[in-house]
Amino acid sequence: MSEDYQGPERVFSGVQPSGELHLGNYLGALKKFARLQHEKECVFCIVDLHAITVPQDPKRLAEQTRHIAAAYLASGVDPSKALIYNQSDVRAHTELAWYFNCVARTGWLNRMTQFKDKAGKNAEKASVGLYTYPVLQAADILAFKATQVPVGEDQKQHLELSRDIAGKFNRDFNAPGFFPLPEPLIDGPGAKVMSLRDGTKKMSKSDPADASRINLTDDADKIAKKIRKAKTDSGLVPETPDELDGRPDIANLVGIYSALADMSEADVLEQHAGSQFGPFKNALADVAVAAMEPITELMTRYLSAPDEIDRILAEAGDKAAAIADPIVAEVRKIIGFRGA
Ligand code: AMP
Ligand code: TRP
Repeated sequence: MSEDYQGPERVFSGVQPSGELHLGNYLGALKKFARLQHEKECVFCIVDLHAITVPQDPKRLAEQTRHIAAAYLASGVDPSKALIYNQSDVRAHTELAWYFNCVARTGWLNRMTQFKDKAGKNAEKASVGLYTYPVLQAADILAFKATQVPVGEDQKQHLELSRDIAGKFNRDFNAPGFFPLPEPLIDGPGAKVMSLRDGTKKMSKSDPADASRINLTDDADKIAKKIRKAKTDSGLVPETPDELDGRPDIANLVGIYSALADMSEADVLEQHAGSQFGPFKNALADVAVAAMEPITELMTRYLSAPDEIDRILAEAGDKAAAIADPIVAEVRKIIGFRGA
């Protein structure tokens, strides 16, 4: 946090309503959200403005948004403790994003690896929105003066950019400590869940192979099958975490086990050291089904009541705007607009 920032602590994070959520999203983000709501003031957003940086089907966008809301709820985020709202319902995001577009430098954005990955070879055909995506992300966080941001490891660079933008705004406008420098919360074994088919690649919704990931909507049978088919090597389960070096597929399965069972990797290995991977994967499948099945069931239940989801989102959207609007109004004043 900025040395000068004196305001209260607040947690903010967001998930895009595009595609299916998977185990990586759950362990890297949602599971942490449910824990943090007991410790700090939390604001959790469904970032539909980010989703439209690549084409989305207008007929499906609202449905996808409810899907993420249901995932938050099913993962244990309690709407009476934390705000769960939809980004496009709160105008402060887009407004602050513009001001930050004028603070961030193109050189900073040119270094963003996620843009390069997503835009691929044909960057000239990518939307301008995809390019400035991390600036909108900084606006999300700072419209709430959030001090901590729980995310998976892939968001580290975007969080650094958010800190750079906050610091430059504070300096450029001679407003020391106005924005905090938000800290990423990226810890634990779930921060980077890898593909079940290739332990060197991130588990991702854009992977064409469904067997590479466990979706939050997979039933017990599917979860168990995918784990039993997960890639391993011809060795045995090692004795200590150090021996996971150079064995990415095994390290991934042990990390998933540890995160799902809330056990250290050392304890997981102690239990299974010397075992063949068949029995180890059976044990992991049991752990995964026990952890994920209740979430899948709850998600289905929440999705059968879309009006209730919409009510939760609308109520939280009003509360979120009541926090963010005054902060953005102060920004207008600091910039020097006549009407501010
Ligand atoms: P996204 O679905 O890209 O909006 O990501 C939502 C959240 O899940 C972010 O905090 C990501 O960092 C996190 N996340 C996505 N993929 C993974 C993964 N394979 N392992 C851990 N966290 C992830
Ligand atoms: N870029 C994040 C992702 O793809 C989603 C996101 C948007 C976000 N705004 C945010 C995450 C603000 C944390 C805070 O995962």
